[in-house]
Order: sequence, then C-alpha cells, then structure tokens
Amino acid sequence: MTGADALRPDDLARLLRRSVDVIRENQDEGGAYLASPSLPTYRFSWFRDGAFIADAMSRAGQAESAEAFFRWCADIVIARGDRIESLIARHRAGEAIDRDEHLRCRYRPDGSEGDMPWSNFQLDGYGMWIWALGAHASRHARSVEPFADAVVLSARYLAEFWDEPCFDWWEERFGCHTATLAAVHAGLVTAGELDSRAADAAEAANRIAATVWAEGVVDGRLAGELGDPRIDASLVACSTPFRLLDPDEPVVEATVRALEAEIAHGGVHRYPGDSYYGGGEWLLLAALLGWHYAEAGRRDDAWAQLAWVAAQANEAGDLPEQVESHLETPSALDDWVRKWGPSASPLLWSHAMFVTLALDLGLSLE
Ligand code: BGC
Repeated sequence: MTGADALRPDDLARLLRRSVDVIRENQDEGGAYLASPSLPTYRFSWFRDGAFIADAMSRAGQAESAEAFFRWCADIVIARGDRIESLIARHRAGEAIDRDEHLRCRYRPDGSEGDMPWSNFQLDGYGMWIWALGAHASRHARSVEPFADAVVLSARYLAEFWDEPCFDWWEERFGCHTATLAAVHAGLVTAGELDSRAADAAEAANRIAATVWAEGVVDGRLAGELGDPRIDASLVACSTPFRLLDPDEPVVEATVRALEAEIAHGGVHRYPGDSYYGGGEWLLLAALLGWHYAEAGRRDDAWAQLAWVAAQANEAGDLPEQVESHLETPSALDDWVRKWGPSASPLLWSHAMFVTLALDLGLSLE
C-alpha cells in the first residue's frame, strides 16, 4: 500500500482545515496573500496565485478573506488608473509599449512594486481576479459594487491588450499563451456579466475564443502557445475552471491524454524538460488535474489526485510547491537550492488547490 492509499478520511479532513489556516496565517492585514513565506522572492502577492487562493477561501466559507484580497486587487488597479488609460491611448495611437511599462503580475503586500528584475508582464491574473470575484459574488450572493470600478478598468486593459505577447504562468516564456488567453477570456466574460460599463469585454472575449480555435489547436488538442504545439499543464485551466472549453470537449480530452502521456502521473510537471528546481512534480497542478477529472466525471481519478497531493504534506501539514521524487532535469536541482535555498513551502496556491479539490469531492470543513 502506498502512502497515498493509506490516507484516512481524518487525515484529509485535518489537512483541509490546516490548509485554510495556512492561508489565513499568510494573508496580510491589507488582504494580500503571500505566495509563500519561505523564500524572499515569494514574499509577494501574485494576482494569479491570489485569485485561486481567494476562490478556494470563498468555497471554504471564508468570504471575508476572499473579499479582502479582492479589495487589495481593486486598490492596485484603481491606483494605476491613469497609467492604464495612458497605455490604452498610446496603443491606439500606434505607439510601441515596452513590456516593463505594463501592469505587474505581483506586488508587495503594501501594493508597492519592488525593483527586483522579474518577468512582470503577465496578463492572466487580471482576468483571474475578476473571474474569482464573479464566482464569489454569486456563490455568497454578495454585491460587487465596491469592486465595480476596478473590474471595469481591468476589463478595459484586457480588452485592449489581450493579444499582446506576455510571460506565461511560469514566468519564463514570452508569447501568446493559450492558458493566459483562457484566463483573460474568463475575466472578460465575467466583467461583461457584472457591469454594463464593460461593454467591450464580451466582444473581446469572443475574439479570444475564435483565436484559440484558429491558432491554439494542433492535432486535435490545445497548444501551449498560439502556433506552438508544446504541451503545458496549465492548459487544463482552459477548461477547469475557466471554461473556454467544456470539460467533455474532445479537444480537452485529447489535451489531457497528451498530458497523461508525458507529464502527469499522480504528480504533474509543468512541462516536459522543466528545469526550475530540477523540474519536480507540482502539487497545485496535480490538484488542478484532479478537479478537472471530477468535472469530467472521472471521480476515482480525482480521488487519486487528492490522495497524491495529501501524501506530499510534511509533518506540520505544509504543502510545498513541488516535490523532488521525480524530476524532469535532475542536474538542475542543486543550482537552484544553492541560489535560493529549498523550494517554496508552504505554498499557499498548493493549499488552495487542495482545498478546492477536497471540497469539490464533498469533504467538509465541519
Ligand atoms: C511560478 C508562478 C507563481 C510563482 C509564485 C513561480 O515559481 O512559476 O506561477 O505565480 O512562483 O507562486
């Protein structure tokens, strides 16, 4: 019997409660969620990580935590309103815009940007926070009025720049990434539903969907990047949860089969040949795939993913970013450990995805 098989319902319930606590303990009083307290480079709050974390907290009944994060996002966007309008005006005038002039993927908890060089231009999070807010508002029958101006502004920004190349989920490749487009699409669809002022949002969303069908599908499955067939685990999000495509859509099934053939075997790698910390198996991706299995009716496989994630917890109940039991590029591990120390743990996004999958499978926090 493996460690995963040996997990009892009590262990899962304990890890579920512990996960909510880890997230709460690492939420700044201003609403920001630290990606991880363990590494200096992760003591920032990313829109991407945060949107998934807020979504999990909302599902867990922690409405105040989720709304504090949405308030933090909204304040950041509103504070950059002039910058957004100026970027849009310059873009429409045909001026070139440097990638470093764009909004950032992460901020310090106090909303400042920091001056460390980083792959800052990533559009996905600006769609994700709107998506998470919309889901939260309908789940808990909450008003989005306090966030509406920031939703409209974010949607204006996304509707203008959605087809600009930017960095991917993994902050490494610059291009038009299919998972990024799906997140932006979800944000634009939600914005159009939430506020009639987001008039351009639905039209831009339609253009994104048409573009993905035309340029983001290769050999019957999704391509990591428009025109580039490479496989990437973030592609799962095009369906679960962002619904650019339905979970039972043949293109999605073929994408998942390709992931299973190459990088998903309980643990899930980000992409073939990943070398970040040796390219280990990511817990958040294992849980994301499990969530997708649940939505696609593969309940046993979803439970197996949950058990695999839970089996990676350390004694304190912390879930790391990735584990080293199976590496894509073993020779790269030591250099990263020398450079930054051990990889991030606990990673709030790992805990969030565990919470989401566990609740989706019917586990309770009671
Ligand atoms: C990941 C990003 C993530 C960040 C913070 C990076 O290693 O590639 O997706 O947003 O860590 O968790």
